This record gives sequence, structure tokens and C-alpha cells, in this order.
Amino acid sequence: MILVAGSANLDFVVQAPHIPAPGETVMGRDFKTFPGGKGANQAVACARAGGASTHMLLALGNDAFATPLENSLLTAGVQIHVVRAPELATGTAFICVSDDAENAITVAPGANLALKPSHLPPLDGVSHLLLQLEIPLTTVTAYAQAAKEAKVQVVLNAAPAQELPAPLLASLDILIVNEGELQVISNHPGTIASSAAQLDVPVLVVTLGHRGCCARSKGNWIYQPAFAVQPIDTTGAGDTFCGVLVAALSQGQGLPDALRLASAAGALACTRLGAQSSIPSHDEVLDFLTKQTPHTPEQLAQLKQFCSFDE
Ligand code: RIB
Repeated sequence: MILVAGSANLDFVVQAPHIPAPGETVMGRDFKTFPGGKGANQAVACARAGGASTHMLLALGNDAFATPLENSLLTAGVQIHVVRAPELATGTAFICVSDDAENAITVAPGANLALKPSHLPPLDGVSHLLLQLEIPLTTVTAYAQAAKEAKVQVVLNAAPAQELPAPLLASLDILIVNEGELQVISNHPGTIASSAAQLDVPVLVVTLGHRGCCARSKGNWIYQPAFAVQPIDTTGAGDTFCGVLVAALSQGQGLPDALRLASAAGALACTRLGAQSSIPSHDEVLDFLTKQTPHTPEQLAQLKQFCSFDE
């Protein structure tokens, strides 16, 4: 069983021709709300796209925004452990999605900041704890340490990027980052290879957007080129990747197969608007994979070259 401990936000989304620059006003189109938050997105991905038994620890306000967030998790089959913070508003995120599928996100964390070390439920039956950085860093660190102590596999998606304290890094089994997060956490702007060399974690996964992803396990690198899709909105694609990766690992899949499933689910999530609304079902992921051709030696070489690992 997977336990996700993290954030839940109601996303306020507007599509617009482009993301406004500082000081600029852009005329957007329809306004929509979607259940989001990196923690809740990853929990939905574990359960719906990954088909894994999933629990989530989250904190919500006592307001109308909390209800769609609880409903979305429950509908996906996630068992929820809610800390109620009546003095705080439920987390929200304000998202502009551009016509080229990029986004800009501002989070008002609200009740997510109420998650405290003492709120961690018993870890009996939990194989993997999946964490992100939209709740207090001290809480993330305490949860990771408690899970390590209990011999639970600790997975951190270090998003949004911030420097990680040494005790947190030392508790991790798997660290998942994108390029920007890798540079911040390693404190070493450079190639993927040179930044990764600064980080001593058992498994490091680096997502590279439309290029694909790579992972280092026991000193060996694995590469997974991206699946080509026509993107509409990339919001939640990284969360879908994280959730499905952990779901696959918790079901006994090896890292290469888990990366392939996670990449397929993340690609599908880019083809729909919204965060949790864009997460595919497990059957959709499997069906998508049956239609893909194996990646070519050229795709693999390009990915390796981008990471600065030459043949
Ligand atoms: O990763 C996407 C998520 O980031 C959105 O759903 C938003 O709520 C923010 O947490």
C-alpha cells in the first residue's frame, strides 16, 4: 500500500494565448476550477493510473473548496486521512495555461501548512511513502525519517524546488526531480550528469519534459525517451509520472518498466486540461502503450547526449 502525504489545492485555471510577463495583462478565455495540488494529484495517479492501493494524508480548511478535493480523491479510490484546519483556507492554486500548453502556477498553500509531524498515521502495511514540498519542510523531513525507521521506502518529488536539509536527503530511497529542481537541490548548475553527481541517493529520477527521463540506480543509468503526444496542458503531468512510477514499483515492477509506464501516463496527462481531470485510467495507459513503437537508437542517443553521457 502507498501512503501519499502532501498538499491538496483547488486549481483556478484560465487558458490564454500566452502567459503574462511581469506587469502585462492578457485576455484569457473560460475560467474553470479543477482538483489539484501536487500531493493529491500524485495520490489520484497512484490509484487511478497506477491501479495501486493508495491512502493520502492531507490538510483542508472548513470551507466549500475542500469538498471537490475530497470527492476527487474518493472517486479515484484513494482512502483519505484529513486533518481539518478551520482557521485556514483550503489550499488554492492560480494557473494560466498558454496555447502552447505551458503553464505558470502560483500556490496559496493555506491549510496545507497545517500538516504537522504528529499527524503521520501508523505505517503498518505501507510499502512506499510519497512526499512533495508543498507542505512544511520540517514535516516532510519528520515523515521521511519516521518512514525510514519503519523500513518503508521513502520517495520524494522535490517540487516546488528548494534546497533539502541533509537529514531529509539521508532518509530517501528515491528522489524525483525535473531539470530545474535538480540544479537547485544539487546546488550545481550544469549538465544532468554533473548535477546528478553531487547527489548521493540510492535512486535518482530526472524528468526532462518532451525529451523523456533518465534514472540512476546503483550507479547505472537508465533512459526512457518520451512518447510523442499533442499537448494541451502539462499541469499535473509530472505528478502523474510520480504517482504511476511509485505505483508500479510498489507492485513489484522493475525500474525500467516503471519508468515506461510513468512516461506513458504523464504523456497522456498532457493531452487534457486540468490536473486530476487529466490523469488517465490504468487501462488507458496500457492501451496507449500497445500502440507505441519501440524507441529508436537515435532517440536514445539524443537523450543520452542531452544528459551529457556519450556512448
Ligand atoms: O503540479 C501541478 C500542481 O501544482 C497543480 O495542481 C497546483 O495545485 C500546484 O500544486
